[in-house]
This record gives sequence, structure tokens and C-alpha cells, in this order.
Amino acid sequence: AAGADVPASRFVFPEVPAGVDERHHVADGYDADVLIRWGDPVLPGAPPFDPMKQTAAAQRLQFGYNNDYLGYIPMPGAANPARHGLLVVNHEYTNEELMFPGLGRQDLRSVGFEGMTPALVDIEMAAHGGAVLEIRRGDDGKWRVVDGSRYARRIDATTPIDVFGPAAGHPRLRTSADPSGRRVLGTINNCAGGVTPWGTWLTCEENFHGYFGGTLPDGHPEARSHARVGVPGNWVGWARYHERFDVGREPNEANRFGWIVEIDPFDPTSTPRKRTALGRFKHEGAFVQVNRDGRVVVYTGDDEVFERVYRFVTARPYVPGDAAANRDLLDEGTLSVARYNADGSVEWLPLVHGEGPLTAANGFASQADVVIEARRAADLLGATRMDRPEDVEVDPKTGKVFVMLTNNTRRKPDDTDPANPRGANPFGHIVEMTPPDGDHTAARFTWDILVRCGDPAIAAVGATFHPATSRDGWFGMPDNCAVDHMGRLWIATDGNSARRTGRADGVWALETEGPLRGAGKLFYRCPVGAEMCGPVFGPDDETLFVAVQHPGESDESDPNAPPATFEAPATRWPDFSPRMPPRPSVVAITRRGGGKIGT
Ligand code: FEO
Ligand code: CA
Ligand code: CA
Ligand code: CA
Repeated sequence: AAGADVPASRFVFPEVPAGVDERHHVADGYDADVLIRWGDPVLPGAPPFDPMKQTAAAQRLQFGYNNDYLGYIPMPGAANPARHGLLVVNHEYTNEELMFPGLGRQDLRSVGFEGMTPALVDIEMAAHGGAVLEIRRGDDGKWRVVDGSRYARRIDATTPIDVFGPAAGHPRLRTSADPSGRRVLGTINNCAGGVTPWGTWLTCEENFHGYFGGTLPDGHPEARSHARVGVPGNWVGWARYHERFDVGREPNEANRFGWIVEIDPFDPTSTPRKRTALGRFKHEGAFVQVNRDGRVVVYTGDDEVFERVYRFVTARPYVPGDAAANRDLLDEGTLSVARYNADGSVEWLPLVHGEGPLTAANGFASQADVVIEARRAADLLGATRMDRPEDVEVDPKTGKVFVMLTNNTRRKPDDTDPANPRGANPFGHIVEMTPPDGDHTAARFTWDILVRCGDPAIAAVGATFHPATSRDGWFGMPDNCAVDHMGRLWIATDGNSARRTGRADGVWALETEGPLRGAGKLFYRCPVGAEMCGPVFGPDDETLFVAVQHPGESDESDPNAPPATFEAPATRWPDFSPRMPPRPSVVAITRRGGGKIGT
């Protein structure tokens, strides 16, 4: 119990001790149950998962790899929509070294790698994209995936997707396989996302550049644009077997990725739509906020060092219950980028063709060029270069907008600014924006720093956690976050490790208001090697769903760590069978005996 001079935490649970081991850990009194793992069946006919005999045909029917974003969409008409809904899941990327036996000890982060075959590449392509799952909570309090659901779906790197908005059909999106420039095969590197009030799922293409290889012909007109987003990134070997990923053969294919994709999870036969009005860059996520005038605001970060925070405002309002009016709402509106001023104001600078520097003289012939090269447009507008913007989420109670800035080890001490005050910034920070009178469409907000992350015990780190934070309660590298229905902020991290911070990634509760503002508290932690993704609360706050991504991966920051492989992963979570590699999994956290999380 809090004493007279100690303010009471808004988060009531016994804190988890920070650390790293082969298992996950949740606060005492809670259950953390695996809901679905890589390879588990999603569609009818899916064969039992066998990592020694995996095929692309099997993977297309099974849960994909590296679950990232999780969105919960209540089932319309359900007796209790907090216990029956759709879970939409992104599958961001693949860890070949942990997925496939016998690949040896190569570094995948260089160019492709020797052990890859066309058949393995096709498995990887089938393990990307996303999944729609129907889930129910039983009378025993446990969540289960509904077998044989009519909504079950897998999206992957070959699924046909239509292009909508200003870049649809533009010559820069046309390829030899698609002279229309309106039909793309697949979505890749789907990091975080969002759900809309009209029941669709937004999935965000992030590090798409890594999938492209080859060399652009000398003097090619896309050279400047491709270089600005790092195409070709040569992270994987897909270009060796699929010509469209070779920029020398298909220079425009890369312009067809880096978008936000809208999917109707209630119609498994629907064709997803790339919404080009929201701009092309390395989208972390897409938080959807209905403004008080009904217009829809989407906040989205561009996750790379020195990139920006963006906002899209629809031209028309959302009309509850009118599916036709809402269907293509995201095709018309204004994309803006943030400039954080020293006086504590944020200006939203519109990316509108013909305005300011966004003219033909600067290589923007139309709005299509502006959205395709959104980064270059933001450069010309003077937007603030941030420390890797990840998730952006709104607190529904206060209207405050939280921006996760995960880290930037490349920022120099003489290149800081008020909103990015540390150089280098290995542990990241969280910026809080306040729209005036709760108007998310306003041209100007105010901003503040909620917390500078890292170990408060090391003065040189410059962390600003509240002194009430325990040695377990601080964290580095905020990535995703969730605000529960009581308006409390929960942070998921990416990049903590034994070597970097003496702790695994996990979910930390963080006070945002009152005398404890900036106090952190550890609720759940991942097994070794994993990143924490996808935190989302069910509508009754009784369940926190989280996504454990790439368990068993080796610590990139540790030059002495043995490289993790299929044969020798850092953990075999969650099965702990000698015949099973580690498996990315979705976990449902509930309170033993029932009740809201953290109360
Ligand atoms: Fe895929 Fe920005 O993390
Ligand atoms: Ca991720
Ligand atoms: Ca992320
Ligand atoms: Ca990250």
C-alpha cells in the first residue's frame, strides 16, 4: 500500500524481475498462454508442422513467421464481442538461419546466402504477409483459434493486391508483368499496422528495400529515388530466383512497395488495396483516430535513422454504418510531415503537389511523384529528422499522441535538436504531442519529451525515468505501444539484450500523468533473442495479446555470441522439444481468476 508521501502507481501487479533466459515471464497472478505458433494450421488442409519437411504449399496454409502487429476486431453481433473477434496478424520477415536445417553459419545480413534454394525462397515468401484468425475465449478463460473459420486467411508475398490513390496506374508503378500499374503481387516486411472503425486492417510495408537485388542500369531515372530508400538492399536472395526483385530487370517493382495496405478481414475473397495517398516510405505502423469532426487521422512513422513522423487526414468524414462511404476513404486527403520547433510547437507540413517546393522544377510532376518520393518531399519541406520513428498511438482519454523513437546510434553530439536531444541515442526516447482542444487535424500541436530511455543508474546515459522506477522498471528501445481503455500506456521494446541492457525485450507499463509521470514497471518479458511486438488489449482490458518475434535469434550487438542456427538456437521456446526450432508465437495474457490487466 502506498504511504502518505508515495503516490500510488496506476499499475497494480507484482513487477517481473528484469533479465534474460530461455523462457518468457509474466507478472505473478497472470497466465501467458501461447495462442498460435509459426506453422500451426490456419486454413483447411494445412498439414501438421514439420520443420524438416517444410514446403511452400504447406506454409501458405499455416501461420507465417515473425508475427509483429496484432489487431483485435470484435465480431459483429457476437454475444460478447470482448470474447469473440478476429485477430489480424502481420508476418514481418523470416529468419532463414532459424527456420531451415543445414544452412550453416552464414551471416544473413550480407547478400543472400549460400544455402538458399528456390524452394526455400518460396517458403520464405509464403511465410511473409499476414493472417486473419477468428478467436474465442472459452468458459475456462482461455483463448482459442476457431477451427475451420470462414474468415481464416493467409496473405503472403504473392497475393494479388490492387493499387489505389494518386500513384495507381502511374508509369512509375508499371512493370512487364503488370502494364496497368494497378495490380501488385504481395506485401512484404509488414511491421505494425492499425485497425479502422469500419472494421478493416491496415498493414504497413516497412523495410521493403531489403528484398531487392541487382543493379539499376546506368543513368536510370529511378536512381535518385531508389537510393533515397536504400533499394536494392540485398538482404535476402529473392532476386536470384524471382526477376521482379532484381532492379536491373524490373526497375519499377520497388515503387510498388513501401505502402500501407488495407484489407477487409471479413471477406476472405476481397483483394487488398495499397493506399498510396498515405505515402511511400518504411512505414512502422498506422494508428487510426477519428477526429471530432468525423474526419479520419492516420499517424505513421518512417522507421529509419533521421526519418520522420507523418499524419494523413481524410478529405471526407467517416460515416458509421455506411460501408460504401468508408470503403475508399483513405484515397483522398492530405499527407503531412512533422517539424518539431524549439518553442515546443509541432507544425504539420502538407505534402501537396504544387505547394511550396513540391513542383515540377524539383522533379514532382504530380501528386503521384510526391507520394512515391515522400521522403524527398519531406526533405525539401524541412521536416525534423528523428531518431527512428516507430509506433505512434493516441491516448483516448487525454487525446495525447505518443511517438516511440527507438534509437539512433548514428546521431552525432553536434547534430542534436530539441526533439532528438541525445547524440548518439542508443536507447531511444518517447515524444508526446498534444493537439489543441483535441483537434487531431490542427496545423499546429505542442510537444514534450515523456521519457529518455536507458539505465538511470549510468549518469552518462541521461535517462529520465521517474526515480520511483525500480532497477527492473527501466527499458531501452521503445518500439510498439498500446494504450488500454483506462488510458494507461504500455510499451513494447525491440533491441534490449544481456549485453546492451542486461534484460530481454518485453512490455513495460509507463506512467504518463501525475506525480509518477515517467515511472516504468516490467509486466512481461520475452525469451532470449526475441523482440516484443503487437501489444493490444481486448475491448474489456482482460486480455493483453502480444507477439513474440524471432525467439532464439543471436544478439547482433555481441561479437562473441555464437551465431544462432536451426541446429543451435539460443532457445527452443515455446515447445522446448529437441526436434523443434524456436517458433515466433502470439501470446494471450490474462489474469488468473479473471479481471482487468494491472488493476
Ligand atoms: Fe519492423 Fe520498425 O520495426
Ligand atoms: Ca519487428
Ligand atoms: Ca516495430
Ligand atoms: Ca524496431
